[in-house]
Amino acid sequence: MPLDIIIGAQWGDEGKGHITDALAAQADIVARFSGGDNAGHTITVGDDIFKLHLIPSGIIHKDVTCLIGGGVVLNPAVMLREMSALAARGVDVSPERLKLSGSAHLITPAHIALDKAAEEQRGDSAIGTTQRGIGPTYTDKTARTGLRAELLADPEGLADALQQHITAKNRILQEIYGGEPLDATAVAASFSQFAQQLRPYLVDGPHFLHEALADGRNVLAEGAQGTFLDLDNGTYPYVTSSHPTTGGVLTGLGVGPNVIRRVIGIAKAFSSRVGSGPFPCELDGEMALRLRGTGANPWDEYGTTTGRPRRVGWLDVVMLRHSARLNGFDELVLTKLDILSGLETLQLGVAYELDGRTLTHFPANPTDLARCRPVYQEVPGWREDITAVRHPADLPPNARRYVDLIAEFCAVPITCVSVGPGREQIIKM
Ligand code: GDP
Ligand code: IMO
Ligand code: MG
Repeated sequence: MPLDIIIGAQWGDEGKGHITDALAAQADIVARFSGGDNAGHTITVGDDIFKLHLIPSGIIHKDVTCLIGGGVVLNPAVMLREMSALAARGVDVSPERLKLSGSAHLITPAHIALDKAAEEQRGDSAIGTTQRGIGPTYTDKTARTGLRAELLADPEGLADALQQHITAKNRILQEIYGGEPLDATAVAASFSQFAQQLRPYLVDGPHFLHEALADGRNVLAEGAQGTFLDLDNGTYPYVTSSHPTTGGVLTGLGVGPNVIRRVIGIAKAFSSRVGSGPFPCELDGEMALRLRGTGANPWDEYGTTTGRPRRVGWLDVVMLRHSARLNGFDELVLTKLDILSGLETLQLGVAYELDGRTLTHFPANPTDLARCRPVYQEVPGWREDITAVRHPADLPPNARRYVDLIAEFCAVPITCVSVGPGREQIIKM
């Protein structure tokens, strides 16, 4: 009863959608376990590009069933929009193929308004959230006042819960933030529509997975966000409000560790981050522009969800090794190696300097991390375009060396390297 897990090893946008899509070819079920539509996962199939925020990336494979797990926060309007966009492109999104765990929490317009208001009030110390209502929804979940998806099957309960919810949030919006109140009746009316459409998709998530795993089905857990955005293990408070790490898979899906077959970390060959917070190997100037791209290519470093330019930097292997230990990676997949082609030399962040000391581990205290200066190891680059390479032996020797060095530093094998967004551009090492 195997469960394979895909985890973002950095700050998100590592190419999890691309690798999930590739691995989904051998999966029966693909399940999201955390986050919500703050995620933006890109899948490229030939000339077709799919950008998914909520629906698992397995949906493109017609024989795969997709589950939105209990650890997810779900904006029903976004889910329905995404479903219609997929259906318009010929993707089957019927309840036979797509399931929603009743224990996922619902994002309402009040959560979105609160996310925006809190960010505005933070001013210069804003987190740079995606303003999708993620934090306020998880806050309600933790406070035990949240609205679970199972309410979609209970019209009266849903209407009552929304009345109370909007009334309570309106007080905060008006009295704390000086904002406009929301119309509870209008929100309840739109949610009643959503409920009618989404009710057939509701399942008991853990039970569905337990049966599938007992039947020997292959389940793939699709991570959203990345390890350093984890509420406990990330660069707090510049994090998301969930657990995008291996620990979050177990609670987010309701399964035990005995079903795990392998944990696969997805790492980009350099670093990127959207939003605020410490970033020791960050670059600016010409090299940043070079790594980010101008936005002309679909894979350039601009947010899939918000369109914001991503901050970029050299690969930080101290962080990557920490990520491997935190998540228990059995293997790593390295994406976007092609972007480094043509650079004379590359830098790898292999340690930090803090107050005259050399640190070889990732400091848990983000204030310390913000003061860390990276110690770089220079490695030779390669000139060749590698986007057409399909076998490891055809990679330029320096590209191989770069990959080997990362694997050695992290003490985790790199089993695949991606040299472009296409399905065929993933090299098995
Ligand atoms: P996710 O959030 O982890 O799924 O990643 P995103 O989809 O937000 O961002 C990754 C971007 O890089 C997408 O546009 C992918 O199509 C693209 N991508 C993934 N792997 C590669 C690769 O190996 N090379 C290039 N050039 N692009 C890639
Ligand atoms: P995928 O799945 C990159 C970041 C936001 C912000 C912080 C908190 O595409 O890798 P939130 O809206 O979650 O409260 O924002 O987390 N963030 C992401 N950054 N990729 C993501 O998802 C992200 N999801 C959230 O930019 O810094
Ligand atoms: Mg993304």
